[in-house]
Amino acid sequence: MNKPFPGPKTLRALERGIPLFKNGLRFNEAMQKAGSRGFRSVRQIVVSRAEGDFVWDLDDQRYIDFQNGWATNPLGNCHPEILKVVETANRRYGFHFDHPLRYELAEMLAEIMPGCALPRTNFEVSGTEAAEAAVHLALTHTQRQYIVTFGASYHGNSIAGKLLSGLGGDSAIHLEAWSGGVVRAPYPFSDNIPANLSQDQYVDFCLWYLEHHIHETMVSRDNIAGVMLEPGLAEGGNWIPTQAFVRGVRDICDRNDWLLISDEVLTGLGRTGKMWAIEHYDVTPDILVYGKNLSGGIAPLSGISARDDILGDNRHFNSGSTFAGSPAGCAAAIKTLEIFERDGIVAQAAKLGRIVEEITRDWENYDIVRQVRGNGLLIGVSFERASRTDREGENWWVARAVRGEMLERGVWAISDHEDTIRLYPALNMNEDTLRAGLHIMEEAIQAVSSGADIEGDSAAYPTGVAGF
Ligand SMILES: Cc1ncc(COP(=O)(O)O)c(C=O)c1O
Repeated sequence: MNKPFPGPKTLRALERGIPLFKNGLRFNEAMQKAGSRGFRSVRQIVVSRAEGDFVWDLDDQRYIDFQNGWATNPLGNCHPEILKVVETANRRYGFHFDHPLRYELAEMLAEIMPGCALPRTNFEVSGTEAAEAAVHLALTHTQRQYIVTFGASYHGNSIAGKLLSGLGGDSAIHLEAWSGGVVRAPYPFSDNIPANLSQDQYVDFCLWYLEHHIHETMVSRDNIAGVMLEPGLAEGGNWIPTQAFVRGVRDICDRNDWLLISDEVLTGLGRTGKMWAIEHYDVTPDILVYGKNLSGGIAPLSGISARDDILGDNRHFNSGSTFAGSPAGCAAAIKTLEIFERDGIVAQAAKLGRIVEEITRDWENYDIVRQVRGNGLLIGVSFERASRTDREGENWWVARAVRGEMLERGVWAISDHEDTIRLYPALNMNEDTLRAGLHIMEEAIQAVSSGADIEGDSAAYPTGVAGF
């Protein structure tokens, strides 16, 4: 790739962010450090427009969109039918809390919940708020004090969201003292299994820890309100849990009278080729959390659904910020669900997921690829961690190098703070576009694998978003 990347207009915009956004003061130092260690400069874009399966940068370069607004555009970018109903709702209602669309949407959601067992809804704006609402509901319903979450989970970026999440490292530094009510249990990744355990032994260990170790060493099982589980550890790297683990968690919850909260903000609404990822395990949660896909990528909306006896009569539960369940958000969600039904979107996602599986089947043969995993269109490819030239313990540079190569070749994917590239194609992506994007990704893997570009990107231009 000889052309300078990114193009001049994109570069100018990225540089414009340096004095404006968070961590701008750190940028020059980070770049110097990266340069001295042989890293390439950052490969990053700024979107000038988006349509369907594609985005364009400020220099009018087109990219296949596997980033998908962090998995928020189930029907591709700027879906015209959703844009239209959002405009109509805004013109008609502006913003008011009570409007008929929230009733209509709540009825639709009740119908698509696992086993139709979660008929009651509480709307929120972001996934973070919805996850917090689920926790508050569990604590107030059970009148207990603790919630168990898992290592490498992500439940949001508010203070409670950070503390509920298990991203580790510095992700909740200086907040540690606030985390009194959260207990974290290990999650059985398919890769990175400790102490030469088999996958089954690792799952058994994690279940034992959840049911016994916490009680024996930390918190009485009678004071645990519930377990919050991602049935596909999304932001943590798109890890796919085994049947034994998810069913085991449900059984433990049942035995101990704990509520099971399924956080499906990212895995939900078709991403895994079923409406809810937890349905792959024949498990019904007690509370389900959703957001992202729900409103078709146009107007924010999230929420929780719960059993009648949990959300039907709980005078201490109180949640929902000003814009929760806005007319525009509800209109977008209703239209999204109508299109899901009309166009068989969940089945399309399952079919595309099978195509991805077929195309990526042999990728683990590349020396830099550690694991390819997926459930439908929740796809993660993790890369070699050990550096070829000792990069002071940073383990994500190979993944970053591949992601940078992909970007230069016209495919946009996510690799933020992990050794993994995450792909979130739209659930209705054109099949040829999906194939083309994966073909380009394989070329990028080959290029990095053969040493053509062994230097990963470091540091990111400050843009005000987390990661890039
Ligand atoms: C599982 C999960 N829960 C909660 C959140 C937070 O959602 P939001 O960023 O909309 O606040 C996310 C975001 O990625 C998520 O993946």
